[in-house]
This record gives sequence, structure tokens and C-alpha cells, in this order.
Amino acid sequence: MDFKDYIRVIPDFPQPGISFKDITTLLNDGEKYRLAIEELKSRVSHLKIDLIAGPEARGFVVGAPLAYALGVGFVPIRKSGKLPYETIEVGYDLEYGKDKLAMHTDAVKPGQNVLIADDLLATGGTISTSVDLVRKLGGNVVGTAFLIELGDLNGRAKLPGIDVFSLVHYD
Ligand code: PRP
Repeated sequence: MDFKDYIRVIPDFPQPGISFKDITTLLNDGEKYRLAIEELKSRVSHLKIDLIAGPEARGFVVGAPLAYALGVGFVPIRKSGKLPYETIEVGYDLEYGKDKLAMHTDAVKPGQNVLIADDLLATGGTISTSVDLVRKLGGNVVGTAFLIELGDLNGRAKLPGIDVFSLVHYD
């Protein structure tokens, strides 16, 4: 099955020149959403995974069902100021300005094997920041999983030595 058929492409959103990959059309189709998660599950089934971590917000709609399917826990990676307990934070650059991502300090135990999941790998800024956070907590990042990879932005370059599993590629 070509999951691309279920992803809507919106030209010039959120600004001219950007071709937005809209996964809401895939999520809206229960069978295709389930198949996409099952396909990701099969791609990572050779890994030993203790936990899945996913950055808000769209990382939750991929990471949480994947964690459920694998029978492991899910850890939210959130924007600064959202998590109620003690956190660690790592800053990252956005197209305009800066932001921070945060995790609870007890979310990952040292030595746990963590797969990081998100909807989209673009520049790799979000996922490499997520990798930094998991590693700061002592976690072992065993791979990254995405519905979509934008090849021309070369996000993989920000993930040296880390396996990338993605279902759909755009150049
Ligand atoms: C989008 C997307 C990824 C990230 C990919 O999230 O869901 O997390 O950008 O881009 P990158 O590889 O260049 O970092 P966004 O920051 O728009 O947040 P959202 O999921 O809350 O919409």
C-alpha cells in the first residue's frame, strides 16, 4: 500500500514555497491509520525497545499508538512549561527564533532502550533535540521512526549513527 495516497499535500502552507504534508487525512481513515502503525511496528520489530518517546503534538499520534501496539510505555516530549514535575530542557532553533523541548527527569531510566517517533522528519531539529534529551537522561536511543521523511532537507545528517525508519519519502 502506498501511504502517500492518504497524505494530503497543501501548497504554500503555512507560507509561500512550503508544501505542507497533511496527515489528518490518513488519521481520519481508521483502517489506513492502523495499517501505517502496523507497518512502522514491523519495521522496528527487530529492535529491543523499552519505551517510545514522541515530541508534541504530532509525535503523539504516531508514538502513542506505536507504543500501545508494541506493548511498551510512551513518554511525551513537550514544549517548555507544559510538564508538571521536575524537567530537563534542551533548546533548539526554529525557522524564526528559538524554543525548548522538555522531558520529566524520571521519564527514562539509565540504560533503557528508547525509540523516538514523530510524524515527520524535515530538518531534523526536533528529533535531534529529542535524542539529546533522552541521552541526557541516560537512555539508549535505538532508532527513530516517522510516517514521512522529506529527503531534500537531509534531516538524517543530524542523526549520525542512528537508524531512521520512515514509511513515505518526498524529495
Ligand atoms: C513538526 C513535525 C515535526 C517537526 C519536523 O512539528 O510534527 O515534529 O515539525 O520538523 P524538523 O525536522 O525540521 O524539526 P511542529 O514543530 O510543527 O509542531 P506540532 O507537531 O505541534 O505541529
